[in-house]
Amino acid sequence: MHSASGSSCAKIILIGEHAVVYGQPAIALPVKAIKLTATIIVNPRKQQMIDSKFYQGPLQAAAATDFAGIADLIAALLAYFHAEQAGFTLRIVSALPPERGMGSSAATATAVVRAFYAAFDTALTQRTLLQWTARSEKAIHGNPSGLDAATTSADTPLWFTKTTPIVPIVFPTNGSLVIADTGIMGQTKEAVQAVATRRAQDPATVDAQIKAIGQAVALAKAALLADDLPALGAQLTKAQVQLRALGVSNAQLDHLIQAAMAAGALGAKLTGSGLGGCMIALADSAAQAQQIRLALQAAGAAATWQYDFSTGGH
Ligand code: PMV
Repeated sequence: MHSASGSSCAKIILIGEHAVVYGQPAIALPVKAIKLTATIIVNPRKQQMIDSKFYQGPLQAAAATDFAGIADLIAALLAYFHAEQAGFTLRIVSALPPERGMGSSAATATAVVRAFYAAFDTALTQRTLLQWTARSEKAIHGNPSGLDAATTSADTPLWFTKTTPIVPIVFPTNGSLVIADTGIMGQTKEAVQAVATRRAQDPATVDAQIKAIGQAVALAKAALLADDLPALGAQLTKAQVQLRALGVSNAQLDHLIQAAMAAGALGAKLTGSGLGGCMIALADSAAQAQQIRLALQAAGAAATWQYDFSTGGH
């Protein structure tokens, strides 16, 4: 084992969250400008230390913390490489806000797996990477679709379903997304569980809502291919109607969505699990995106980002 690093980036679900857990498609994009890096620095004193904003201290003491899922992943990687006794400091530097629907846990797992494979000079296929990240995502989120890990490790926007191969999807060259953070921790596990509970109580209604999201995703794909931003915006707004009905939006998300629409957005919705976290708004130009950003800041967004389709989010 030698010192090495691995990286990943934030992700945004354009459309399809929650329904994707029940087999519907989703469209998601890696946001390359918001990066996460995991660096392994070999430590001759045989200690295993974590240095991150999520957790700082010995690996062995992380089991009872929020870092437990990643700590378990690291222990499994060490066992896989027969390096249980190796000494190292693992430093994680992340520009992603945690628990905001930007895939922070999946991005962390992706960068950590990449760093360990690099430290052991071992080639890593995308398939093996996703097997590893599924392990920590399951521990952290309960029943993950795998979408987060697929996107935080991807180079292009993706068409994703749980059961079919992941397909890159081409985005228009005009238009921008504005991403705004409510400043409230999203609650992926709780939100996914809330939908499951609602579905157990009223399967007909919830299945119809899930199907409606799936239809909006299919129409969003057609709009992307046709370079039709107003049609894409309309599908984002349609998905938001269903996400609200599923109970995963909240007052702050609704408030920011309204502010974006009032500022001229073509469509807006929550992104990720909801119950806090981030929302996205579609703008027909970078200039309009600037206007929407200002409106979202005035409406109380904790942070905003812009993803211009022309640059692929770089
Ligand atoms: O909140 P995030 O970024 O973890 O996104 C969760 C997306 C869901 O569709 C709600 C769950 C999943 O596993 O796909």
